[in-house]
Formats: sequence, C-alpha cells, structure tokens
Amino acid sequence: MSHSFTMVAARVLVGCCVLIAAVVVRPSAQAPQASPTYTAEQAAAGRATYQQSCASCHGQNLDDGQFAGPLKGDAFRQKWGGRGVDALHTFMSAQMPPASPGSLGDAGYVQVIAYLLQQNGVSAGTQALPADPAALRAMVFPAAPAGPGGGVTAGVVLPRGPARANPLDRITPVTDETLIKPAEGDWLNWRRTYDAQGFSPLKQITKANVGQLRAAWTWTLRKYGSADTNGWRRSVPRRPPT
Ligand code: HEC
Repeated sequence: MSHSFTMVAARVLVGCCVLIAAVVVRPSAQAPQASPTYTAEQAAAGRATYQQSCASCHGQNLDDGQFAGPLKGDAFRQKWGGRGVDALHTFMSAQMPPASPGSLGDAGYVQVIAYLLQQNGVSAGTQALPADPAALRAMVFPAAPAGPGGGVTAGVVLPRGPARANPLDRITPVTDETLIKPAEGDWLNWRRTYDAQGFSPLKQITKANVGQLRAAWTWTLRKYGSADTNGWRRSVPRRPPT
C-alpha cells in the first residue's frame, strides 16, 4: 500500500517536472535569440561617424548631450534592451540625424550600432554585425542589468504613477485689476494700494480688540533691514501701467 502510494507520488512528481521544463524551456517563436556580434573595426568606424553626426546633440560621451537623451546606460537599455537590434536600426535610419535621416547609409548605421553596443557593454568579436534586417532581428540588444532595485523585464509596461498636484494650479495670478483694486483680504502692494493708503478694509480687528493681537509669524529682511522699504518698493510696480 505505502509502496504503491510512493510510486504514484513519484510519477506525479516526475510528470510535473517534465511539464514545468516544457513551459520554461519552450522558446517563443518570434523572440530574438542571439547576442549581437560586431568587430572592433566596425565600432571604431561607428565612433567616428557618431562624433561627426550625432555627438552635437547626444553628447561626446553618449550620455551628456544638451539636445537629446543618452544612448548608453540603464535608461537607454530599459527602452531598447531585450528587443531585436533591427528596431534600433529602423528607428535610427528613419529619424537620425534629424536633419538628414538615412544619410549614413545601411553600413553607416550598422557601424554606429556597433559603437552603441560597445558602449553598452557588449564586447567586440570576430563576426561583423550584419546589415541584413532579418539577421539584425535575430539579435537582442543588451537589457539593463537588474540593479539593487530589481529592473524591469523587457517589454513590460509599468502603469503610470499617481498624478502629482502642481502647486501652481492653486495660485491665482496677479493682474493689473487686482493690483489696482485688491480684494478686501489681500495686501498685494506695499501699503496695499497704489495711492499708498496702508489701510485694510477688513473689519474683524477693531479698536476694542486690537490690544489682544499677538505676533504669530515674522520674517526678517536680511538685505534691507526691516525699516528700509526701498527694496520692496523697487520690486513692485508703483503706478498702474499707462
Ligand atoms: C539635431 C540633434 C540630433 C542629432 C544630430 C541626432 N539626434 Fe538622435 N535624437 C535627437 C532627439 C531630439 C531625439 C528624441 C527624439 C524622439 O524621442 O522622438 C533623438 C533620439 C535618438 C534615439 C532614440 C533614443 C531613445 O531614448 O529612445 C536614437 C537611438 C538616436 N537619436 C540616435 C542618433 C544617432 C545614431 C545619431 C547620429 C547619426 C543622432 N541620433 C543624431 C536629436 C538628435
């Protein structure tokens, strides 16, 4: 009894393992497979082309451009890593450089890709990076390494984070009208109005209760001192614009 139970359990276990192995090992038909290959000569030629045609926007070091994003490092590989190299080739030859897309010719783009591969951690080898789109499709651009935070599997789209409140949404713009005729509770100008009345129309504070006022908040003006108002006067318009 216990013997045959063990046998059944063992068979079930073996069966499960075969099933799991089948699920894990079965390659997906279309996915790119191979690591890209390129030669050191291709990367060197690509570097020269890059410096001439791309560095002005993407930067001398590929991640220090003033006008365009990095072409190496984690952020770049998050986007292009794990995909066929043909995706990059198609994008670059259709869009880059923006002033003359396609101008490098097939071999030129392939050389620049070789340089990008080198800069993204793939070592040069003896096999050249091919220009043939089908061959490029079979090669995977290196994915970003999973750092301490984990990294994201290629192709996974993360949901957007919660919307952040923009503090400017709650700020009411000051207009000429509000400066000329401020709302009762506002004190937008030095001495409140352009004719320098220094008078608040609010009625909560009266002769009877003014003696109970206490300082709740103060701000010391470093540069001009609290008694000298010229700095403030200079920073606000003193007359309505004509
Ligand atoms: C005039 C500035 C300029 C030049 C020169 C230029 N690029 Fe770009 N590049 C951009 C801009 C801007 C973007 C972003 C475009 C977009 O997102 O649609 C970009 C995007 C890219 C991307 C995609 C980056 C990403 O994060 O997905 C690649 C790859 C690229 N460029 C490669 C090149 C190559 C290779 C060259 C040289 C042959 C080149 N670029 C020359 C401005 C430039």
